Amino acid sequence: MHRDPEGAAPGSGERGEQPQWRQDFPIDWTQDEYVARRDFTKFLGLTSLAFVLGQFWILAQSMIGRGRNGGRVTEIKGARDLPVGGSLTFAYPDEYDDCILVRTGRESFVAYSQKCTHLSCPVRPDPENNALLCPCHHGSFDLATGRPTGGPPRRPLPLVELEVRGGRVYATAVKERMQ
Ligand code: FES
Repeated sequence: MHRDPEGAAPGSGERGEQPQWRQDFPIDWTQDEYVARRDFTKFLGLTSLAFVLGQFWILAQSMIGRGRNGGRVTEIKGARDLPVGGSLTFAYPDEYDDCILVRTGRESFVAYSQKCTHLSCPVRPDPENNALLCPCHHGSFDLATGRPTGGPPRRPLPLVELEVRGGRVYATAVKERMQ
């Protein structure tokens, strides 16, 4: 079978049969394409692996987050002295997580993360209208449930679970909610 000396692998055939440039640049095209395909396959494999690892990382983070948000019981200072309709802010579960507590009755309280679920502006209570309002884009939430009632927010505020013991109010967990 006749092979074009220009496409022939370097070293194949007589050296004298190949043009000078072929001898100066001895690239084996067949081998070169094979390596390119192999590299592309390797790239695809590594990308898929990175994607799968990323999913596991997100899952692990969410499990750690769930662990972090629960189980630590913290007294909310000043809650017992709040008048009905009064509110205060507190940090839970750690010092960077601002939350808001509202006394809705003699024995009843509600508490949520203070970060609006639209773009994280701090929400403010409006107990007369049974609402929490976000001043940034006129978002509003139902005070009793923390669910969005107006404006851009689509998700409820994270709920701070409470326990009332001997007149004292304790935060016990934060519950993230999608709806
Ligand atoms: S940040 Fe609250 S409505 Fe936009």
